Amino acid sequence: MTARILSGKAFAQALKDDARARAGRLAHEHHVTPGLAVVLVGADAASQVYVRNKDKACAEIGLYSEVVRMPEGISKQELIKTIEALNASEKIHGILVQLPLPGKLHAHETEILDHIDPAKDVDGFHPVNMGKLVLGIPGLTPCTPAGCVRMLEHAGIPMDGKRAVIVGRSNIVGKPMLHLLLAKNATVTICHSHTQDLASITREADILVAAVGRPRFITADMVKPGAAVIDVGINRLAPDAEHPRGKLVGDVDFDAVKEVAGAITPVPGGVGLLTVAMLMQNVVHAAEMQVC
Ligand code: GUN
Repeated sequence: MTARILSGKAFAQALKDDARARAGRLAHEHHVTPGLAVVLVGADAASQVYVRNKDKACAEIGLYSEVVRMPEGISKQELIKTIEALNASEKIHGILVQLPLPGKLHAHETEILDHIDPAKDVDGFHPVNMGKLVLGIPGLTPCTPAGCVRMLEHAGIPMDGKRAVIVGRSNIVGKPMLHLLLAKNATVTICHSHTQDLASITREADILVAAVGRPRFITADMVKPGAAVIDVGINRLAPDAEHPRGKLVGDVDFDAVKEVAGAITPVPGGVGLLTVAMLMQNVVHAAEMQVC
């Protein structure tokens, strides 16, 4: 049997519509337009596309947005000064520093993100928000994993008591996803590059989350029949005649795995759309917390 395809399109639109309505209420009741500042250092092509999508989404739902572009060669201190100015700005309720930071700044990412006011940390990467997530206290939650869990809920896929396996232990996806699934009473395992006999663990998963950044890494033999498979990967393959810019594929071998899984997210058109929609939710939520 072929898996049910969990498209992110309609659900992302519903999340954006909800954010638009709440932003409208803030404008009406408090004369406040939620504002997002995206800090982009350098000229990485993929980061520019992501930043443009975030800016476009803000315009679409009526949020104020600023893109602060800085050259690759800026110092750590200059970047921190920029973040501190945004912390103090009344127009800005959410701040996001696009990752990865280029060059020498890359090694200082954690230290730099620590300077974002936790109340404006719409990526949810600040240690205060990460700590709240671990403790189960309300805070700002990382967009991609939060979008995945909302999608599972929306699709009616049970998490309570189920075995969830996450492949990938990044701070952006794997680690926050662990706590979000735990909060839904799933029994959660994280696998990573040192995990032995990976397939024997992934085959136990009722919910399998792939966030490794390796094209088509999860193959059909690694998936339990009927499992829900969430593909967080976005990888561009080498160009060929059919795809001159290189085909976009996930971390899951979609064509083969959809014949085994019960439900699966496509790439593109799956989880990626939810990340931006969840960011809009976080900006509005941050604004609500700041003004109410
Ligand atoms: N780069 C890739 N994903 C993300 C994200 O969710 N937030 C930020 N700031 N940078 C990213």
